[in-house]
Amino acid sequence: MQEQIITLCSAALPKIESAATVAELEALRVQVLGKKGELTAVLRGMGALSEAERPLVGQVANEWREKLTNSIADRAEMLQQALLAEALANETIDVTLPGKMPVTGHKHPMSIVQDELVDIFLGMGFSVAEGPQIEFSRYVFDALNSPLNHPSRDLQDTFYIKDAPIDETTGFPSMVLRTHTSSVQIRAMMAQQPPIRIISPGRVYRKDEVDATHSPNFSQMEALVVDKGVTMADLMGTLEVLMKNIFGEETRTRFRPHHFPFTEPSAEVDISCYICGGDVGCRVCKYEGWIEMLGAGVVHPAVLRNCGIDPEIYSGYAFGVGLERLTLGRFAIDDMRLLYDGDMRFLRQF
Ligand code: PHE
Repeated sequence: MQEQIITLCSAALPKIESAATVAELEALRVQVLGKKGELTAVLRGMGALSEAERPLVGQVANEWREKLTNSIADRAEMLQQALLAEALANETIDVTLPGKMPVTGHKHPMSIVQDELVDIFLGMGFSVAEGPQIEFSRYVFDALNSPLNHPSRDLQDTFYIKDAPIDETTGFPSMVLRTHTSSVQIRAMMAQQPPIRIISPGRVYRKDEVDATHSPNFSQMEALVVDKGVTMADLMGTLEVLMKNIFGEETRTRFRPHHFPFTEPSAEVDISCYICGGDVGCRVCKYEGWIEMLGAGVVHPAVLRNCGIDPEIYSGYAFGVGLERLTLGRFAIDDMRLLYDGDMRFLRQF
């Protein structure tokens, strides 16, 4: 039996020492030393030995068992080390390589301009008011004193909400995609008595074909001031400050008479060309020296009355400016579509 043990164990030893994986090693251990292993099976026959032989065989068996157990442990340790070394080699980090900068987002040029405007107006004591883009047509037109036959109401110019109930006075649906943010004026004046100082930036919609200066969806910012003794002079002063702030100290403003149903008097406001300065004339100002910027005027008494404000006590001014136009001017961009395309090659420049 002694020989049987020695043959068996000395055959197992080189296999253990050359086991290639932890799993192979474990299989060997089970095969030899496990409960149903080969050595265990041999030792089960010990009962048949004589009293004298038994301790001798026991000793040999124990020695070999220990030898095999130790060499299994050694081999296991080696294999683990090898695995670790391999993993480390694979995961080597070259700390001298230049790092990868995470890409951070930044503001769209429109947001830059809008935030700048909001900042300027907050500094002048205004607050920001917002209204819905799907709006009652009476807030977009009627309350703003637009006559029933005003061309802006036309189906060709305005997106009506088809399923809205028909407005009995106009015969058109009672809801529209707002064509200007002037509807927010109405909401503000209906909600509170003067003094009112608000700006309302937001999206507006008109049936326009897309080209370099038009889009069916664009953005405006409207300003409204209503208080005692507000005049055209306040409007002119505010716009002068605003335009200088945005386009530079040397910018001049010019008021041309115009007509809006909701203001009287009304004006279109031009600024001296931000490219040529206005004296020479260039392609951008079409050699006129001036660039049209916005619509403005003194709030029509009928509009105040429509909102429950007494025009005998209060007066106000309002103006509305296209944010795209302002952005194009501010950054000397020549095509409005660039603002909507989301092309990173363009946007990265801001
Ligand atoms: N609502 C006008 C427009 O969209 C602009 C405007 C606003 C004019 C306020 C006068 C006063 O064209």
